[in-house]
Amino acid sequence: MDAKTSQKPGATKKTGSITVGNKNWDFPVYSGTIGPDVLDIAKLYGESGMFTYDPGFTSTASCESKITYIDGDEGVLLYRGYPIEQLAEHGDFLETCYLLLYGELPTPSQKADFDYRVTRHTMVHEQMSRFFQGFRRDAHPMAVMTGSIGALSAFYHDSTDIADPVQRMIASLRMIAKVPTLAAMAYKYSVGQPFVYPKNDLDYSTNFLRMCYAVPTEDYKPNPVLARAMDRIFILHADHEQNASTSTVRLAGSSGANPFACIAAGCACLWGPAHGGANEAALNMLREIGTVDRIPEFVKRAKDKTDSYRLMGFGHRVYKNYDPRAKIMQKTCHEVLAELGIKDDPLLDVAMELEKIALHDDYFVEKKLYPNIDFYSGITLKAMGFPTTMFTVLFAVARTVGWIAQWKEMIEDPKQKIGRPRQLYTGATTRDYVPISRRK
Ligand code: SDX
Repeated sequence: MDAKTSQKPGATKKTGSITVGNKNWDFPVYSGTIGPDVLDIAKLYGESGMFTYDPGFTSTASCESKITYIDGDEGVLLYRGYPIEQLAEHGDFLETCYLLLYGELPTPSQKADFDYRVTRHTMVHEQMSRFFQGFRRDAHPMAVMTGSIGALSAFYHDSTDIADPVQRMIASLRMIAKVPTLAAMAYKYSVGQPFVYPKNDLDYSTNFLRMCYAVPTEDYKPNPVLARAMDRIFILHADHEQNASTSTVRLAGSSGANPFACIAAGCACLWGPAHGGANEAALNMLREIGTVDRIPEFVKRAKDKTDSYRLMGFGHRVYKNYDPRAKIMQKTCHEVLAELGIKDDPLLDVAMELEKIALHDDYFVEKKLYPNIDFYSGITLKAMGFPTTMFTVLFAVARTVGWIAQWKEMIEDPKQKIGRPRQLYTGATTRDYVPISRRK
């Protein structure tokens, strides 16, 4: 493909052309505000009878979006144009939720109103506690989360009409507010402790930590340092462009499925160890390595092409430089360990040494494998008292707003239609049925 003219974005229309053999087709090229241009190949099949082929969508833009921008080479992450470093430093999670949903930072009155509205949706229908009784106590909390988020559509029928903007916003607020409550219930259920109701006089992250760690036998004393760390972890995980789980939500939403079902689909996808499950897998890997002197053995395995082993928490489809979130996560990790008086966490020693080795190893440098957000989050969350099985649940709590913002943008996009990719078929050609009596 070659773009015939290279004009500034928004100037005269650009076209790109594809040539196959002696045939040539022209297609429009669009420029974004920042980032790569795109070649609109929607008409390619109609004009050429060919599909594009891009398993894993490494070179495919699935949609137009105004929500999050990532520059993988420069290690840049913007939510609605604001750098993640500034939002994590100066704002709180509900401010980020407002920004992702509405596109602008809230004024003081808008923030107060949004906090009020979210806070008053934090309780779940009382029958949900009966719903939980059906799970085994040792069920993985992500199984419970996927099931209970999907079940929300069985309780909140009055906010499932996706054509009604009022219902779309109520469903959005309900999920931002109720997913932490469900997450805390999943944790309490797994440890056999009673569920703790949300309290309206607490901020979002303090409320969440209290629902996880308060017990009826004593007053809960919030730790503002841990609550701030939790809030920052939520901000870092809130959205990330068209990652696997967000693409799942968009595809589910493109069929007109109700918002709760779409977010449940995203939660199921996030659970995979290559995606949101990597934080749990990264901590399990650090535990398996155990001591600094065993690191070379695992690095050798990760480099061995005959071994499918990978260093969890390393590498990224987009970031071919440092994941900007990982830097903030590492800083938060040290703050939490200092607050809790954890001086020599052997897992942190292994993590720091593994990072140092990997950043200087030719294999990792050549393949641009840097620590991603999941590398330090596990150590931080473990220090905060969460079991590893809860790590991806916490990722899902944060990413719920990103999934919803992307789902809303897709539903409100007049160009959107049901997502229905095609394939390169390499199976059997047409053949006649053979009755079983004649099969050998
Ligand atoms: C998240 O998409 C998002 O934005 C996701 C996320 C979000 O916020 O939504 O950022 C959250 O999911 C972070 C990523 C968490 N996953 C992990 O930490 C799991 C370990 N990482 C890998 O599985 C892998 O790096 C991926 C899945 C993250 C990215 O895989 P890609 O882009 O498909 O890259 P690839 O598999 O083609 O790897 C390129 C090369 C391969 O070697 P070659 O075939 O070229 O010889 O790098 C190697 C891979 O073998 N490689 C690794 C490696 N990751 C890639 N080798 C060792 N250890 C690793 N971790």
